[in-house]
Amino acid sequence: MKSIAIDGPAGAGKSTIAKLLSKELGYIYVDTGAMYRAMAVYFTKNNIDPYDEEAIKLAADKVNIDIEYSNGIQQVILNNENVTHLLRAEETGKMASKVSKYSAVRTKLVDLQRELAKKNNCIMDGRDIGSVVLPDAYLKVFLTATSDARAKRRYDELISKGQEANYDTIKKDIEDRDYEDSHRKISPLVQAEDAVLVDTSDLNIEEVVSKIKELIRQKEM
Ligand code: DC
Repeated sequence: MKSIAIDGPAGAGKSTIAKLLSKELGYIYVDTGAMYRAMAVYFTKNNIDPYDEEAIKLAADKVNIDIEYSNGIQQVILNNENVTHLLRAEETGKMASKVSKYSAVRTKLVDLQRELAKKNNCIMDGRDIGSVVLPDAYLKVFLTATSDARAKRRYDELISKGQEANYDTIKKDIEDRDYEDSHRKISPLVQAEDAVLVDTSDLNIEEVVSKIKELIRQKEM
């Protein structure tokens, strides 16, 4: 089985790019952030304090996460309930970032991610895919962009949906999340040694997709 790892900070465009590429290549798309978010939903629903590691550990033992595909779209099943529609909320992302530092949370999800990659050709995105989860991935991309570019994209997205948005708050949230993701002890966000850096600050979606397709072509030569 072949896997492509895409890592990078929040808002760099990983999921948009990975989804498009997965369709073109006929690979499954594995969104690992969604798994951490599903864990976060469980902790929030059960009022678990994200700073209490012991409580998180006990609660994590009661969580079962499964991944299914419906028309090619990843569905996350949390203890037999499809929670996919709950995962994108801003608060869920913040909770996921806080609890993803605990090994009780990570071990479980990393096992599931490796199982999926063993059975399917996949494009997997996250923070530690090239560095920890799939060290033998056939292509590793580290997708990044300045916090300004990422905040602007998020701002434009919210405004286009008719929602309220404050640019400075969005930028601060992005920078706080970068800090948490890069400074945890276990599996922090880092560029794997053999990953190719792609800075998307000044590129549109098509340009990023074609850049990665070119990297794939080079691998196949
Ligand atoms: O990519 P995302 O915003 O959906 O991820 C949510 C949080 O989950 C992110 O802030 C950190 C964590 N995460 C992680 O620790 N490792 C991954 N492979 C994916 C996500």
